[in-house]
Amino acid sequence: MWPYPNIVAHRGGGILAPENTLAAMRCGLAHGFHAVEFDVMLSKDGIPVLMHDVEFGRTVLNPATGRVCDFTAAELVAMDAGSWFSPEFRGETIPLLEQVIVFCQKNHIWMNVEIKPDPAWEVETGRAVAQMVRQHYVDVIQDDHQNQAKLPLLSSFSFDALMAAKLAVPDIPRAYLVEALPADWLQCLQKLDAIALHIDHQHLSLPIAKAVKQAGFGLFCYTVNDLARAQEIMAWGVDGFCTDQLGLASIYPHV
Ligand code: G3P
Ligand code: MG
Repeated sequence: MWPYPNIVAHRGGGILAPENTLAAMRCGLAHGFHAVEFDVMLSKDGIPVLMHDVEFGRTVLNPATGRVCDFTAAELVAMDAGSWFSPEFRGETIPLLEQVIVFCQKNHIWMNVEIKPDPAWEVETGRAVAQMVRQHYVDVIQDDHQNQAKLPLLSSFSFDALMAAKLAVPDIPRAYLVEALPADWLQCLQKLDAIALHIDHQHLSLPIAKAVKQAGFGLFCYTVNDLARAQEIMAWGVDGFCTDQLGLASIYPHV
């Protein structure tokens, strides 16, 4: 139920590069990661771009205010998403999802695409992200389902975004993302026809891990930055985790 790598670079390059940029993807790759998680939302004109925060102010300094979804893709890709991190990354721009997919395909990097919609655009974001991924994986989708491991995994805290992704492109696998385990977790996974639950490791316990695995789902944790904790949850049956500490790749026995 988890045919993917078990250690994944969070937001591309963890703490070593500006999150959700192509520089972050290159950084993760340079540290041995062939699996990456990143966040995607929509521009004003409906183009998926990499971005975590719905509002500007933390990672993009110009403009310092406003909502991401009020800017077109052309405006967003001209913005500096690197200077906030360090001068070395000045001029690193907000990438389109399409650019990142092309980069990952070329470099054989598996993708966990986290759909991170503006609350006003949950359905549209889920649909647009799924359709963009499909465009680049038509051959794999058409081949047969043996190839699931080659497809990106779509995840989201937004049930509605994931449902829209399912309706638009059912063949791209989905994972439901939660902080703490909600009472209706099993029904949500079933309705979404999801293959995995993604959960904050701080809210994971052995009974929860057992329940999710016994129900037949993959189990993935965010964001695990400590080797001892990684070993503990993996011993509980967790299938994989993302990390900001890229050094973990060299000391954790991963596939
Ligand atoms: O996808 C797991 C994790 O990235 C969720 O939290 O806020 O880092 O996107 P966040
Ligand atoms: Mg994320």
